[in-house]
Amino acid sequence: MSTWANLGLQDSASPLMEQLIFFHDHALLILVMITVLVGYLMFMLFFNNYVNRFLLHGQLIEMIWTILPAIILLFIAFPSLRLLYLLDEINEPSVTLKSIGHQWYWSYEYSDFNNIEFDSYMIPTNELSTDGFRLLDVDNRIVLPMNSQIRILVTAADVIHSWTIPALGVKVDGTPGRLNQTNFFMNRPGLFYGQCSEICGANHSFMPIVIESVPTNYFIKWISNN
Ligand code: CUA
Repeated sequence: MSTWANLGLQDSASPLMEQLIFFHDHALLILVMITVLVGYLMFMLFFNNYVNRFLLHGQLIEMIWTILPAIILLFIAFPSLRLLYLLDEINEPSVTLKSIGHQWYWSYEYSDFNNIEFDSYMIPTNELSTDGFRLLDVDNRIVLPMNSQIRILVTAADVIHSWTIPALGVKVDGTPGRLNQTNFFMNRPGLFYGQCSEICGANHSFMPIVIESVPTNYFIKWISNN
């Protein structure tokens, strides 16, 4: 979960989010190198006094400064495509969770286990306990096992919503009349917070998502007591 003054990405809780962070750092490094180089060139333009009245063309330098940026872009494009296809891969999920976006709450269905289903509403500020997180905690949390592949099916009942968990690198739109799919793998226990990230109406900001990542035996215990 993001706390005060955390302007970067959250710590990852899944291998794919780890890869996304690596890619972000890689792209940022290239961006910094370009900015420094161009900044230096622009700065130096103020101080030079080279004048050449007969300069009309420079084929070689034109070739260099056209092809070089194209090559640099390839160093971003290929890792980006690799990640894009990696995120789309489904690796034999052991649990499937269906989440349906409503105005303005999420409802969940564990279709693998005697059709457990429940709604998940944000806890209003005036009902929050002292250790609760304002605008981020819900009354019914999703419980899912760590160290297993989990498939998420996302849809919506009214308008477009988006099921987004930053620490897991998951962001899927829930669209009425469609069923979207994604998957993730949580590599540590804990609480992972998310929010809707598709502008879905007046209370868009108030439909958070909370995942309880627990060991498999705790998950089985939880699911069989429901
Ligand atoms: Cu649902 Cu924004």
